[in-house]
Amino acid sequence: MSSCSRKNPYRPIETEVIETVQETPTIRTIKLKPKEPIPFKAGQFVELTIPGIGEAPFTPSSRPSTPEIIHLTIMKVGKVTEKVHELQAGDIVGLRGPLGNGYPIDDFIGKEILVVGGGCGFAPLRSLMYSFFEISGKLKKLYFRGGCRSPQEMVYRKETEEWAKRPDLNLKLTVDKGDETWKGPVGVVTTILDDAAMDYATGIAIVCGPPIMMKFATKKLLEMGFKKDHLYLSMEKNMSCGIGKCGHCRLGIYYACKDGPVFRFNQIESYPEIWD
Ligand SMILES: Cc1cc2nc3c(=O)[nH]c(=O)nc-3n(C[C@H](O)[C@H](O)[C@H](O)COP(=O)(O)OP(=O)(O)OC[C@H]3O[C@@H](n4cnc5c(N)ncnc54)[C@H](O)[C@@H]3O)c2cc1C
Ligand code: FES
Repeated sequence: MSSCSRKNPYRPIETEVIETVQETPTIRTIKLKPKEPIPFKAGQFVELTIPGIGEAPFTPSSRPSTPEIIHLTIMKVGKVTEKVHELQAGDIVGLRGPLGNGYPIDDFIGKEILVVGGGCGFAPLRSLMYSFFEISGKLKKLYFRGGCRSPQEMVYRKETEEWAKRPDLNLKLTVDKGDETWKGPVGVVTTILDDAAMDYATGIAIVCGPPIMMKFATKKLLEMGFKKDHLYLSMEKNMSCGIGKCGHCRLGIYYACKDGPVFRFNQIESYPEIWD
């Protein structure tokens, strides 16, 4: 299976599930060991095949520097993702990729960066944050602002508590509705964006989350003064082939699978379907 995978882009690499972690009632991280490493950049995605069920795209949430073990953090929404939530260590699945463009990390060197995440959008952003931590001395300043519906729905909660202690990161998280365990701010993520002590006109903003959150975060960031070409959005359009052949993921003149999923806002702002 694996020896042909690079020649035939449709052929998945045989992959073993080595561990599963229930992050929230509906979100699970699966840790996978493909038969051959899949070197990827933060923001690129893979197609996961569940034998007999189907295939779906997911962005790795693990460190790009350890491509021999890939973590996917997956919300249960339908056919494939329900099966993902039944997987056990030792089960065999398929992976093909990496697909798409990923974040242009080198373009961010020397800049002030605001990363904004919502819900399951934390998954690709975790991989991006690992990449940033590896070069944090080369970044001017790094901010992370994240929001979830409730403390129970906050993925990587323990890990983000550790991130909050890092001297190279300014992190703030909010929930729409708090509880007795929650000591942080309460409100949607757009309410905690404008306290970053950075120059918005020259800074970079990176947003990933559900479409409605991306829409309102983009509006807020533009009002704050971020430039359209400094604003990076990860677009989760419906996909099939993942390699620019089938047309399922069309976004204006682009194919989200090949030209994205990461776009600068000025590239796609004129297409109304970006928030669908
Ligand atoms: C580049 C990319 C990266 C992604 N990364 C992640 C990730 O890291 N974690 C994660 O949980 N999800 C991610 N998604 C979304 C994930 O692919 C869908 O949730 C998955 O395809 C649903 O498959 P299903 O068979 O379980 O659902 P289905 O039974 O096919 O559909 C259930 C519902 O999900 C919607 N849906 C189906 N496919 C998609 C899709 N591709 N994007 C958005 N909605 C869809 C359908 O409209 C329907 O409402 C990503 C999507 C893309 C395109
Ligand atoms: S998913 Fe087929 S062209 Fe993008």
